[in-house]
Amino acid sequence: MEMSIFVFVTFVSLTAADKNDIFVSEGKSWIADESFTEIIKSSFASSRCCNVFLTDWTEGSSAVFDQFKNVYPYDYLLDASVHKCQGFFFLGSSDDDVVESIKKVPLLQPNMEILIVVNNDISSDSCLFNDSAYGIANVNIVSMSGMWKLSENYLRPRVFTKIDSYEGMQIKDVTMNFQNKELQVCSIFSPPMTYLNRTIQKTINGVEADVYTMDNELDWDGVEMKLFLIMAEKLNFTWTIRKPEGNYTYGQRINDTYWMGGLIQMMREQKIDMAFASIWLTSDQYRFVNLSESWYQIFIHFLVPRPHRTTSFWALTKPFSEEIWYLLLSALLLHSLYTYIRAWIDSKFPRQYRNFLIALTDLIGYLLSSSVPKSTRKKTNKLQILLWQTAGWLIITAYSSSLAARLASSEYENRIDTLEQFSEANLQWGLTKELPPFDDYFDMTNPYSMKLRSRFNHIKKYAQLKRLIEQGNYAILGKVMDDSFVPMDYISNEDLKNYRLMRQPVGQFYTAFAVQPWLLKPINKIILRLRETGIISRHLRDVIRRRDSYNLREVTVEHDRYDGSIQVLRLMPLGAGFFLLFIGSLIASLTLFFELRRAASRATSIHDLLRDISKERDFSHS
Ligand SMILES: *[C@@H]1O[C@H](CO)[C@@H](O)[C@H](O)[C@H]1NC(C)=O
Ligand SMILES: *[C@@H]1O[C@H](CO)[C@@H](O)[C@H](O)[C@H]1NC(C)=O
Ligand SMILES: *[C@@H]1O[C@H](CO)[C@@H](O)[C@H](O)[C@H]1NC(C)=O
Ligand SMILES: *[C@@H]1O[C@H](CO)[C@@H](O)[C@H](O)[C@H]1NC(C)=O
Ligand SMILES: *[C@@H]1O[C@H](CO)[C@@H](O)[C@H](O)[C@H]1NC(C)=O
Ligand SMILES: *[C@@H]1O[C@H](CO)[C@@H](O)[C@H](O)[C@H]1NC(C)=O
Repeated sequence: MEMSIFVFVTFVSLTAADKNDIFVSEGKSWIADESFTEIIKSSFASSRCCNVFLTDWTEGSSAVFDQFKNVYPYDYLLDASVHKCQGFFFLGSSDDDVVESIKKVPLLQPNMEILIVVNNDISSDSCLFNDSAYGIANVNIVSMSGMWKLSENYLRPRVFTKIDSYEGMQIKDVTMNFQNKELQVCSIFSPPMTYLNRTIQKTINGVEADVYTMDNELDWDGVEMKLFLIMAEKLNFTWTIRKPEGNYTYGQRINDTYWMGGLIQMMREQKIDMAFASIWLTSDQYRFVNLSESWYQIFIHFLVPRPHRTTSFWALTKPFSEEIWYLLLSALLLHSLYTYIRAWIDSKFPRQYRNFLIALTDLIGYLLSSSVPKSTRKKTNKLQILLWQTAGWLIITAYSSSLAARLASSEYENRIDTLEQFSEANLQWGLTKELPPFDDYFDMTNPYSMKLRSRFNHIKKYAQLKRLIEQGNYAILGKVMDDSFVPMDYISNEDLKNYRLMRQPVGQFYTAFAVQPWLLKPINKIILRLRETGIISRHLRDVIRRRDSYNLREVTVEHDRYDGSIQVLRLMPLGAGFFLLFIGSLIASLTLFFELRRAASRATSIHDLLRDISKERDFSHS
């Protein structure tokens, strides 16, 4: 339908130029041609087609319309409103008629351009000057008694100012002075961005609202608060900060066209002009409100429990790696085998080694540098034993010094630094809010991110959080700004004592201000300037330095390193050694016991047997 009108009018406009049909009047317009060209250029700076509304076909109106047809460089539509066309031209002889025709058109978009030409004088109390009819469009009025322009800063009440040159009609690119008008702003308590605290009830535009009192010094602190105060000063506006209505802070997306509650809904209902409270630049929110350039990138991190000190039962095996132990064992076996075989082949070789077990135990003895029995002091295997003992000496020296160093320092569990380790450690986490939108919080390219969903606890009371922290498998979610960690929820200094920062970030986001469309350009301009000049980083550092607690600064410091103090040895690291001793004595006792039993079956009694043994000993000594 719209298209066919469009085609029809274009057709009319083309033919009209050739044949003098009904639209062409005999009269002459009261505006000079050059002036009219200037008016059109200034008023329709960005639109590329125009909706034309004529209220009457008097001679004067027809003449101005002819002038428009000659001057306007793009297509236009007559008496039909097409939303794609941002330009609107209202023409008539009486201001009342023109206002009637304006009221029929929905004027909502910020980049609409309206030109009104009245072929008459208009008085200063004309209903044309009632700003409520124009929404947030840009408006120029030209009449025989003068020209007016509607203020461009969109703050109510918008006012018409009389101008005396066509250049004044030009729509300025960005308004940077809001002339002390009051902006409605929405925010919350959200350290370190804002520290707003006490509210009072106040009536704004006939509606009750919770307005922050700003009577405390702390109310004026916070990173975003400082940035906002700079914006207010630079753009010359005053403000009232209120709390979000209802139970939500930001609200929730219900479907593609409907957002429920929170400050996003207040923006959509135009109750507020601007909002800031750690708002994330997410596509969901971006679809519903205009978000400024981001002013900072924030990384999401977990605080995880610090690794505990450990002592292993097998600490005695620690100085050597597994391969060295295997190598030692095989060297021992191979060497024993060599000695055993040689003893059988070489007749000069000590005969006792024809028993493999004796070869093995003797070689272990040499390796551990036990005294060398007399029987082996024969020339044949002297070099071999010497080399073997040297190797033993090297190994034992290496082992002893490494063991001493290890036992004197402390050992710790592995640190949790990646989502994989987080997952293995079976950690829980939580927030006082509902389950957050996962795609916003976590980096979904990491396969372990999905597992976080099942580990989430909705914290209802601080006592519950305290209990989880005491249980020791709880991770604290927060954001890292300028190398400092800021928890998402309130956490006491004491709770943080045993926490450190997990190195791998789990997500990231950009923070922005939510603004009405007409505030977008000026706010963006200021944010870019603040970013370039480093003012943002300065305030960030300043606020965090003043507000951080001691333990929050400590979370990036690792405590599980050797601190130079000497440990007192306890039983545990020597456990394996004592265990070996115990097993050895057990085997020895058992062997003795069985030998005695065997001998006892031959002799009369154990008592006799023991007497025989001591007799034998006396004999050999004498
Ligand atoms: C301006 O227009 C609105 C609605 O069109 C009307 O309610 C209001 O009374 C008008 N104001 C004046 C001063 O005429
Ligand atoms: C702010 O606006 C007021 C009111 O229009 C004006 O008097 C003042 O000069 C402006 N201040 C600046 C710095 O532009
Ligand atoms: C708000 O201020 C009161 C006293 O002025 C203080 O006790 C309270 O802790 C503050 N609340 C927050 C959230 O800072
Ligand atoms: C906020 O929550 C309370 C209690 O859950 C409920 O009674 C109230 O209706 C809610 N308010 C809004 C605006 O949803
Ligand atoms: C979105 O949700 C609102 C409220 O529940 C409903 O009225 C509307 O029809 C829904 N729109 C679509 C496109 O589903
Ligand atoms: C502002 O937001 C509206 C609706 O969310 C969107 O259609 C429009 O393109 C946005 N304007 C800018 C300049 O981003």
